[in-house]
Amino acid sequence: MVSSSSDHNTQFQSSPPLMANRHFSRTTSKSFSDLFIYVGGSLVALLLVWALWSFSSPAPDPNTFPTTFIKPSETEPVKLQDFNINFKQDSSVPTFYDDPTLTYTVGSPLKNWDEKRSTWLKHHPSFAAGAKERILMITGSQSTPCRNPMGDHLLLRFFKNKVDYCRIHGYDIFYNNVLLQPKMFTFWAKIPAVRAAMVAHPEAEWIWWVDSDAAITDMDFKLPLSRYKDHNLVVHGWSKLIYDKKSWTSLNAGVFLIRNCQWSLDFMEVWASMGPQNPNYEKWGATLRTTFKDKIFPESDDQSGLVYLLLHEKDTWGKKIYVEGEYYFEGYWLEIVEDLENTTRKYNDIEKGVRELRRRHAEKVSEHYSEIWKEHLKDAGNGKEGWRRPFITHFTGCQPCSGDHNMMYSRQTCWGAMEIALNFADNQVLRNFGFVHNSLSDSSRVSPLPFDYPASEIM
Ligand SMILES: *[C@@H]1O[C@H](CO)[C@@H](O)[C@H](O)[C@H]1NC(C)=O
Repeated sequence: MVSSSSDHNTQFQSSPPLMANRHFSRTTSKSFSDLFIYVGGSLVALLLVWALWSFSSPAPDPNTFPTTFIKPSETEPVKLQDFNINFKQDSSVPTFYDDPTLTYTVGSPLKNWDEKRSTWLKHHPSFAAGAKERILMITGSQSTPCRNPMGDHLLLRFFKNKVDYCRIHGYDIFYNNVLLQPKMFTFWAKIPAVRAAMVAHPEAEWIWWVDSDAAITDMDFKLPLSRYKDHNLVVHGWSKLIYDKKSWTSLNAGVFLIRNCQWSLDFMEVWASMGPQNPNYEKWGATLRTTFKDKIFPESDDQSGLVYLLLHEKDTWGKKIYVEGEYYFEGYWLEIVEDLENTTRKYNDIEKGVRELRRRHAEKVSEHYSEIWKEHLKDAGNGKEGWRRPFITHFTGCQPCSGDHNMMYSRQTCWGAMEIALNFADNQVLRNFGFVHNSLSDSSRVSPLPFDYPASEIM
């Protein structure tokens, strides 16, 4: 349990307050203006022409489409998916980026985003294919070194884990380590980061926030996006605990999937308005504490805020929020880590019986083998009762960076469990590089895998 206001961050991955980084903003605005002069110089004539009619006629003209993308051959129709993404071409037609009033910041609402995004996609057709499934993962940590001497090392390993997952599945990833809204520190910092990422990545349908202290422990598992087709926000939680128990821990706000759309921008404005940058911050703290009997610390926090919106503005927001409780969209490490040895053994036993599953392959075609695995995981079950690999193991309360772990666990318990989970995940990656950790607790030593492992034994 959270024991006092001073350790209220223990339920979250947090970063300490910091001042706005003046150097950073100065250099950024300088390079923006340089860029503007450069682009402006070369395109000014075109922009003027387009500006004259393009604002009054939002329908894209086919002639404005880039001419550099590969043309489908006449004889063999090529599906849109076959186009390669063109990173070198930007449309000269003005887009929302050219609108001086558009911002990347929380607190300045953005309008007609769905239309703006889709217009951008129309002008960047190489990104349009597969756009509905495109995911950008965001994670991050504080801008200064960790107080815990091994904190930065642990954060590096947690980040490596996410990079591994994103590489295998072709997702983009962004690591943020500045406060984009200086007052929105600790657990509030993710909202401004997601807000900015939506504008920076119109090609991505989903933004997936994953706390820095969460590890992906099933490298094969993919988010079941079709399940969320009618929803805009996915969080891990339990409806019963939300609506019946009114508990602030009835869901976890440390991992969420949010659609890049107007609804999400509107929702985040409302959600963020409970934060420390708002004059009503203290009032919100009191309201949330009254609402949730199990909330001990007085400050308004993003997780309680989210549960509050589900409880009190269910009609406005609830319909589009999917509370995922069926699998470990994120799971509590304490109920997961002790089983990971057995999970490894179970998976190895299955592979011993199925040659196809243990066939060596290029890392790039891993998803082919994940598909084959599905058949063998039909009865694996999910969560504590099942034996399927947990998708995300979240070290809630461990605070790798500050070292201010919850007093419920010892420092050793937290770090030891993190190593086991990270090595468990790393084994799935190293497998395709021909190696395996000597044990889940041994982060340093690995052994080469013999051909036909695990049917053959490691020497
Ligand atoms: C792991 O499996 C062994 C053998 O089946 C069993 O005795 C043990 O209780 C299991 N451990 C856990 C943590 O479930």
